Amino acid sequence: MATLADRWNIHPAHFWLRGQQPDQPIRFDEELGIWNVYGYAEAVRILGDPAIFSSDTKRLYASEAVNEHKEGNLIQMDAPEHGKLRTLVSGAFNRKIVADLEPRIREVTRELLDAVPDPSELEVVTDLAYPLPVIVIAELLGVPSSDRDLFKQWVTVMLEGTGQLSLRDRDLSEEDERDQRAVIEQWQPMFDYIREHVAERRRQPRQDLLTQLVTAEVDGNRLTDNEVVNFAVLLLVAGHVSTTLLLGNTLLCLDAHPEWAARVREDRSLVPSAIEESLRMFSPFAGVTRSTYTEVEIAGQRVPADQMIMVWLAAANRDARQFADPDTFIPTRDPNPHLGLGRGIHFCLGAPLARLEGRVALNMLMDRFPVLRTDPANPPTFVPTPNMTGVRTLPMRTI
Ligand code: HEM
Repeated sequence: MATLADRWNIHPAHFWLRGQQPDQPIRFDEELGIWNVYGYAEAVRILGDPAIFSSDTKRLYASEAVNEHKEGNLIQMDAPEHGKLRTLVSGAFNRKIVADLEPRIREVTRELLDAVPDPSELEVVTDLAYPLPVIVIAELLGVPSSDRDLFKQWVTVMLEGTGQLSLRDRDLSEEDERDQRAVIEQWQPMFDYIREHVAERRRQPRQDLLTQLVTAEVDGNRLTDNEVVNFAVLLLVAGHVSTTLLLGNTLLCLDAHPEWAARVREDRSLVPSAIEESLRMFSPFAGVTRSTYTEVEIAGQRVPADQMIMVWLAAANRDARQFADPDTFIPTRDPNPHLGLGRGIHFCLGAPLARLEGRVALNMLMDRFPVLRTDPANPPTFVPTPNMTGVRTLPMRTI
């Protein structure tokens, strides 16, 4: 797989994509003021102890601009509020409900592939990997999926950010605050858009997730408009961005390993485990952040309270202490306890949906196209955001 990262020049600083092990499982970045965790055991410990390792990292750099969008953002919440809000929606994403979506996911996949302008060459992201998950999550939420070009515009602002947060100086400078506000202003239309739909559901309930959110009660209280809006935006964004990357990355892994591509084509029962192995080797959500509530020791290093930790799931997924042959793509790997979808109380809420979409899409692509190869003359491009790994465009030859 090192060749894959080198071949396409993906995130040059991400050493784990190039078959290198870290010299230590945790390292402090003096320049940025952030602790980087690369080890599997260390990552599992951090994700499993939310009382010490908080998901509320925004408290460390109290930008007013960011704080406005904090309430209701599940991924940034700690217990007990996190558990209450998560319980509200977990029903909508359980295995049974998600399994019932399979016919609709098949139908959307079929329609999208039927609409490919020239089936001799695909641009996998535009033709399928972007629209499929966005249509599915928009329909679940109850916002028009035909507005997906708008969502793309808003989300692109997030994915194209190459900026690196620095916590060297705790108080954000006026310039940092201005930068953050400028980014958030670009997202504002997305929040306004969802806010309009929320207001509409309060007037006129429907059978959708937005209605479920506006009518649900936590401890006898309804969620506020801000909570519903921030949560719905999280679902809309989380519900498609990483799934798009997952599908593209799995195709890239198979492209780099033609012998496995042929076996998976032949024996479709290998599709789910090929997806899991791609989540391990080429994790779309490469890193998640935590902040320390108290001083703590990790792998012999003393980490003070109120520090920012970047847990590199993608590096932990290549830890030779945990995975034999960590840099080899082995779709039959069993067990495969990768961290690509997180671990602990924040484990990905949409995991069953992402896995189902991946399975349906991959199967249908292989059914339709006897050949699916990257084109050296027209190489894939990658999202530049440091904590995401995956294709932005993926042209593939089909003949
Ligand atoms: C392959 C696709 C996906 C990947 C790789 C992925 C990855 C992750 C990861 C690593 C986390 C943990 C974040 C943390 O611990 O800080 C997470 C959380 C989350 N994911 Fe996903 N995700 C995917 C698809 C989805 C989908 C389809 C949805 C929604 C429909 C979704 C919704 C969420 C939500 C709401 C959370 C926050 C859960 C919580 O804080 O309790 N994800 N995801």
